Formats: sequence, C-alpha cells, structure tokens
Amino acid sequence: MKNLNLIFLGPPGAGKGTIAKDVVERYGVPHISTGDMLRDAVSAGSELGKKVKSVMESGQLVSDELLFDLVKDRLSKKDCVNGFILDGYPRNLDQAKALDKILQEINLSLTAVIFLDVSEEEVVKRISNRRVCPKCSRVYNLISLKPKNDTVCDDDSTPLIQREDDKAETVRKRYNIYIEKTAPLVKLYKGRNQIVTIDASGTVDKVDEIVFNTLEELRQE
Ligand code: AP5
Repeated sequence: MKNLNLIFLGPPGAGKGTIAKDVVERYGVPHISTGDMLRDAVSAGSELGKKVKSVMESGQLVSDELLFDLVKDRLSKKDCVNGFILDGYPRNLDQAKALDKILQEINLSLTAVIFLDVSEEEVVKRISNRRVCPKCSRVYNLISLKPKNDTVCDDDSTPLIQREDDKAETVRKRYNIYIEKTAPLVKLYKGRNQIVTIDASGTVDKVDEIVFNTLEELRQE
C-alpha cells in the first residue's frame, strides 16, 4: 500500500480543513494546516505570532521564509513518515519549489495533490457562514454544519466567533490572491501528473465520499 503524502489545494473556504479532518479520522495521518499553525502562534502571542498577526488579518500571505522553516520542522517529525496532509501549503510557485527541496532533504515524496474545485460564489457563501470556536478551533457553518446551539461550541460551550480574515472585504482579497498566486499550482502539478481534481461543490458527506474513493485508488496504485 502506498503512503498518503498529500497536498490539499483549493480556494479559501473550499473545505480543505473540513475534509482533511475526516481523512485524518479515517487514515490517522497528521493534518498539517499552515493556517492553523499560524493562528495558534498568534493566539499564543509567540514571536512568530507577533510577526504574522497583521499580515494574516489583512488577508495577505505570510513570507515564504517563515513558512519554509515552519513546514520543514513539521514534516521532519516522525509522525509524517507514514503519510501527511499539507493544507494551505504550498501557496505560490516559490513555495512549491521550496517544498520540493524540503521533501528531497527529508527523503519523502508526494503521492498526490487533491484539488478541491468549487466556485467563487460557493466559497463566499461558505466563508461568510463559517464560525469557529476560539478555544478548541472547531469549525462550524451556520448553514451546512450548525452548532447545536446557534452561538456556542458543542464541545466546550465557548461563544463562537468569526475569523478576522473572514470579513466580506478580506475574503474578496484572499480569493484574488488565490487566483493570482495559488491557482497556477494546479497547472504545475497537472504537468507533473500529480493532481486529482475533486468536485467539491456538494455536501460534506458527498465530498468525503469522492475523496475517500480517490484515496483508496491512490493507495492501491
Ligand atoms: P488558511 O487557514 O490556510 O486559509 P484558506 O486557505 O484561506 O482556507 P480556509 O481555512 O479559509 O478554508 P478551508 O478550505 O480550510 O475551508 P473550511 O474547511 O474551513 O490561511 C489563512 C491565512 O494564513 C492566509 O490568508 C495567510 O495569511 C496565512 N497563510 C497560511 N498558509 C500560508 C502559506 N502557505 N503562505 C503564506 N501565508 C499563509 O470550510 C469553510 C466553511 O465551509 C466552514 O464553515 C465549513 O463548515 C463549510 N464547509 C466545508 N465544506 C463544505 C461543503 N462541502 N458544503 C457546505 N459547507 C462546507
């Protein structure tokens, strides 16, 4: 069986984090979300967090250098030797080159890039209805993944919040940055025959089903 060494690629709000969590539950591979790692650093008030806070809130990309160290350290941990999901990295062509270098240095290779394809209209709808628990980071959606009680987390009853970068104006900026900087990666990985395009416009259950079937095929190859 092949390892699942995966990149999850797609526009903001495509469902990368949501689907990755379901894959983690099924296959036990670590979920490496650079967005989550950076948000944790901001919450902790670490040196890294202080450096990236305003950049993230404005919807811009954090510098490639900071991401390189963060991703290299994480991928070098023992739990990645049997598979991983990179979510939110790489984000531009330079980061894709940097990732090639990291993987070569730690002697790992990619199995596939899972591209979650969804329209701009749908991502705007998903993001504007996203709410998160500031304590445990659980992600909800006021339409598709409602908390039991409208305003608090099911797990710890903490009042849910909207991410700072989920405000309408910032979402548009993030989407434009995605089109300009990240979408070219689809072509790059297509050229390497590594991309699998998933129609991510359906419900979470439907997308899970397509992704699980795809991963089973990849494991058998
Ligand atoms: P990051 O956290 O990576 O944000 P993103 O890529 O914009 O992705 P999102 O977290 O917004 O969306 P998602 O696809 O995970 O969707 P989700 O599953 O939550 O990055 C944030 C910031 O960090 C960046 O702007 C940048 O500043 C910095 N950063 C991170 N990585 C970086 C890098 N490599 N380089 C430089 N800077 C970096 O789903 C969205 C909503 O929809 C949820 O409410 C969910 O419940 C719902 N939902 C999900 N799937 C479905 C479905 N199928 N049907 C209906 N609803 C659904």
